[in-house]
Amino acid sequence: MKRNVISSLISTDLVGQSVTVCGWVRTFRNDQFLAVNDGSCLQNLQLVLDRDATDESLRKLLTTGAAIRATGQLVESQGGGQATEVKVEEVEVLGAADPDEFPIQMKRHTMEFLREKAHLRFRTSTFSAVFRLRHALQFAIHDFFNSDGFYMLHTPIITGSDAEGAGEMFKVSTSDPDQEFFGKPVNLTVSGQLEAELGAMALGKVYTFGPTFRAENSNTSRHLAEFWMIEPEVAFNDLSDNIDLAEACLKHVLRYVLEHNLPDLEFLANREAEAEKQLPADKRNATGLIERLRSVTEGAFVRLTYTEAIDLLRQSKPFKKKKFKYPVEWGVDLQSEHERWLVEKKFNCPVVLTDYPAGIKAFYMRRNDDGKTVAAMDVLVPGIGELIGGSQREERLEVLKEKCAEFNIPEDHIWWYLDTRKFGTAPHAGFGMGFERLVMFATGMTNIRDVIPFPRAPQSAEF
Ligand code: 4AD
Ligand code: MG
Repeated sequence: MKRNVISSLISTDLVGQSVTVCGWVRTFRNDQFLAVNDGSCLQNLQLVLDRDATDESLRKLLTTGAAIRATGQLVESQGGGQATEVKVEEVEVLGAADPDEFPIQMKRHTMEFLREKAHLRFRTSTFSAVFRLRHALQFAIHDFFNSDGFYMLHTPIITGSDAEGAGEMFKVSTSDPDQEFFGKPVNLTVSGQLEAELGAMALGKVYTFGPTFRAENSNTSRHLAEFWMIEPEVAFNDLSDNIDLAEACLKHVLRYVLEHNLPDLEFLANREAEAEKQLPADKRNATGLIERLRSVTEGAFVRLTYTEAIDLLRQSKPFKKKKFKYPVEWGVDLQSEHERWLVEKKFNCPVVLTDYPAGIKAFYMRRNDDGKTVAAMDVLVPGIGELIGGSQREERLEVLKEKCAEFNIPEDHIWWYLDTRKFGTAPHAGFGMGFERLVMFATGMTNIRDVIPFPRAPQSAEF
């Protein structure tokens, strides 16, 4: 179907030309003004109908949600609010949407309601903006790594290993439970890291960008059972190179959307400001969305060790006033209340925590000289908490074998992983960035289920 996308018609470049527009009706006012959106941009195009020339039966079908095609002349808009409009010569309804049944009417719906209508929520300005940004972010990620000489590696989705050792795997089998299709138990991957390391030990710089699956039974606004992760892995990098890479990557992708997706970001910034009016002052973001993203692209990230963070937390007001729900002492895993205090209250910028206690991190992280901590790093950002988790990897075969024993990982399960330490081992490092958490951060959306088209979470796998 030959048509002009609306993004090419909202500026005056094509004024005077005859155009064909296809899209979905957002509103129809005064039997004359049709606001139409085709997804190519946030803005609707105004179509002006000749009231006398459109018969009533047709007008009745021009309701919110209907798909239409119209032709006419693009002219400079008579009214305010838009630069152009179309003087319609012909309009055709391709698919009606019964107003008594179509659930996405032009009023404010709750996010919960729209989640139940995830098949139709793309039709709202909010979700179309979010998903255009999701696209732009993934494009910017590929752009960043490609420009920096990385090779993208597709790592398997079905695997026999549990990279993170957290035991949160989904088993994979055929409908016959007695038949072991792969000759051994397998699961959906929780991370492509172990395989990415194998690639990095020859290709130098690789990254994966794929779906990962975790049966974490945590019904939070920041966890999904199926999410996408970006995992770069670089030979000859140490922990500090790894942090530099994470910082550069995050800054690049945010700069990219600030440059290419400003109308969508501005819309979401206003939406957030509106929504925050309902919240008590201390629950609101200190600054607006766009300012938040800009400040991340401009300022340096704060870097401190886990041990320093524990000290700061124990000196903090909420700790002294017993406001934290979870304990703060050396050796415990930080909870999101602690992470958020650090990024939102103490530093108000991304914070990179390093050198965590070995016991709370995965087996593959490089043991530090103190024998107690490992060369881990987590990047925490305002509003989200942990966005990135990574480390320098244990490249010393003997130490790695000790770690396998400590973590009860049979060596014959990951003989191939150990082989890289036997043949030409070298320092290397990498990280994993949760893609949905990045989309949350960049859009200001507060629930992870609203930044992936069809969320998978406990008791929820519709669509
Ligand atoms: O910190 P994680 O568990 O690290 C790894 O998986 C490493 N193998 C990464 C690496 O070094 N190559 O997960 C990395 C990131 C987290 O920081 C978080 O952003 C995201 O993945 N993440 C989740 N996102 C949504 N839902 C979940 N259930 C998530 N679990 C982790
Ligand atoms: Mg982590």
